[in-house]
Amino acid sequence: MIKVPVSELKPGMKLAKDVHLEDGRILLLSGFAVKQRYIRKLELFNIEHVYIEEGEAVPLEELREEKVYAEAFNTIKHVLSSVREGKELDVHAVKETVSDIVQRVINNESVFMQLTGIRDIDNYTFLHSVDVCIYSVVTGKNLGLSKTDLTELGIGAILHDIGKCKIPLEVLMKPGRLTEDEFHVMKLHTIYGHEIISNTPGLNKRVANIACQHHEKWDGTGYPVGLSNYQIDKFARIVTIADIYDALTADRVYKKKDLPHEAAEYLMCYSSVLVDPEITKLFIKNIAFYPAGSIVLLNTGEIGSVIEANKHVSIRPKIRVIARKEGPPVFEPYELDLVKNPSIFIIDILG
Ligand SMILES: [Fe+2]
Repeated sequence: MIKVPVSELKPGMKLAKDVHLEDGRILLLSGFAVKQRYIRKLELFNIEHVYIEEGEAVPLEELREEKVYAEAFNTIKHVLSSVREGKELDVHAVKETVSDIVQRVINNESVFMQLTGIRDIDNYTFLHSVDVCIYSVVTGKNLGLSKTDLTELGIGAILHDIGKCKIPLEVLMKPGRLTEDEFHVMKLHTIYGHEIISNTPGLNKRVANIACQHHEKWDGTGYPVGLSNYQIDKFARIVTIADIYDALTADRVYKKKDLPHEAAEYLMCYSSVLVDPEITKLFIKNIAFYPAGSIVLLNTGEIGSVIEANKHVSIRPKIRVIARKEGPPVFEPYELDLVKNPSIFIIDILG
C-alpha cells in the first residue's frame, strides 16, 4: 500500500483504504478501481491524497466504457452548441458516437449502466442526452431489437431534445416556473426537433419521430399532437420512459433527485397513463437498480455497499453493511438481503 497525491492518481489504480469526507461520510471504498470521474470527485472535495495498492489494475473493458461515455458527452455538447449557432448538425459525429454506445451495450450493458447518473447541474443537458441514449439502447436490446434498430433508436434518443436549440435561452434557462405562454414556447421544441432532423441529410423519419413524439402520453394527453397508445412510435415510447426516469433521478436546481426505487415507483404508478406499461416493466427490471459498489444509507442508519444489483427484483439489492451513521462502529461487515428484509429500505445514495 502506498500513499499517492490525488494529482498523481491514474485510472486503473486500486484503492487500498476507504476515503472519508471530514464529516465522516464515505466517498470511496477500498477495493474500488480509480476512474477519471472519481479523480474529479476527489478534487471537488479537496482530498489531497489516497492510499492505493501496488500492481493492481482495473479490467481494460471498464476504462473503454468510460472513454466512450466521455466522448459521447463531448460529441453531444459540440452538436447542441453548433446547432444553436445555426450550423449544420454533425450527423457523422452523432452516428459514430451512437454506434460505439450500441456496440458496448451489446457487449456488456452492466458496465455502462454504472456510468450513468453522474450529472451535475452544469452539465445536466449533455449528460441527460447521453444517459437517455444509454437507457433507451439497453431497453431496446432487452426488447430484442436488431443492431440497426438499436442504432436508429440511439440516434433519436441522443437527439431527442435537439429542438431546444431553437428555444430562446431566457425561456430554456429560466430558473423559476414557466408562465403559460413560456410553456407553450417550450413545447415547440418537439416540432423544432422534428424539423431539424427532417432537414438533415442522413437522418431518417423514425429519428425525427422520436424528437417529435417524446412528450406524447400513453393516454393521449401529451403534446404536440395528442397521440395515444400504439399511435406513438415504439422508439418514442422507449425514449419517453428513459427521459422521465433520467429527469427524476437527477439533482436539479429546483428539486433533489429521486432514488432509483422511487423513480421506478413513479413510473409504475403512472404507466398506463403516461407511458407504455409493458415497456415500463421491462425498463424497471433492467435499468432502475442500484449498481454493485453503490454506497447506500438504510432507514436503519446502517451504511453499506451494494454487493449484487439483484436486477430481477431490481429495487431491493443485497448489501454489505460496513458502517452506521450513528452508534457503535461495525467491526465485522455483514450481509443484508433487502428482498428478505422488507421493512428495511434505502433512503440515500452516498457514493
Ligand atoms: Fe423534451
